[in-house]
Amino acid sequence: MNKLIILNHKMSLLYDDLYNYIEKTNEIDTENDIIICPSNIYLEAFMNNSEWSVGAQDMHYSTDKNHTGEISSDQLKSLGVEYTMIGHYERVSEFNENKNIVNQKLIAALDSNIFPILCFGENIDEDYREVLPKLLEGYLKDIQNIDFIIFAYEPIYAIGTGALPKIDKIKEVIDFISKYLEDKYHKKPTIVYGGSVDSSNIHNIINIDNLNGVLIGNISSDIKEVERIINNI
Ligand code: 13P
Repeated sequence: MNKLIILNHKMSLLYDDLYNYIEKTNEIDTENDIIICPSNIYLEAFMNNSEWSVGAQDMHYSTDKNHTGEISSDQLKSLGVEYTMIGHYERVSEFNENKNIVNQKLIAALDSNIFPILCFGENIDEDYREVLPKLLEGYLKDIQNIDFIIFAYEPIYAIGTGALPKIDKIKEVIDFISKYLEDKYHKKPTIVYGGSVDSSNIHNIINIDNLNGVLIGNISSDIKEVERIINNI
């Protein structure tokens, strides 16, 4: 079955390297579905030149114009961008995005027919069984249909640290999330795992039951490492 490989460039990639990177994306042969989430300034370049699907790393919940520095669902749609990440921990922690804001963004993305990649996860000292249902309940408030949401489980302690949880632990949490959502929405959710994924561990992660793919951060701006990851699936 095709796997979903989502690449979150965060703030990396300089303009001098952009077109070399894009050229390489078109040379990599894969059956899997790749979604690249570059910085907003490069969205158009990827849309026009890469064969991979393109997503934003965030969007504003409002379509009102008075939000300096932000980007709206209307703007994403007008460029043909089909996906957006929402609720990444780096935004939650740096910009105080609370459950209500994440929920509004999620609703705005769904209303605009943009597929949301909803990020969530617990910290090292927290019990996922307590934290994840509370987070998901807040994020999914007033949402009845989860068919179009990609759930991205990213344990906070694994983001950008190289501290990959044990594979059995990831499996246990993915099963928990899958069951929680299936019980509540009577649909099998689409779930990806993110946090310290690389070419050396992808093979073990990607074959976890109930997991549809991965979300890769820092190293995703290294196109050679992306190619190794794809080849190791
Ligand atoms: P790393 O792959 O750098 O750990 O980051 C994960 C992430 O934040 C993806 O959204």
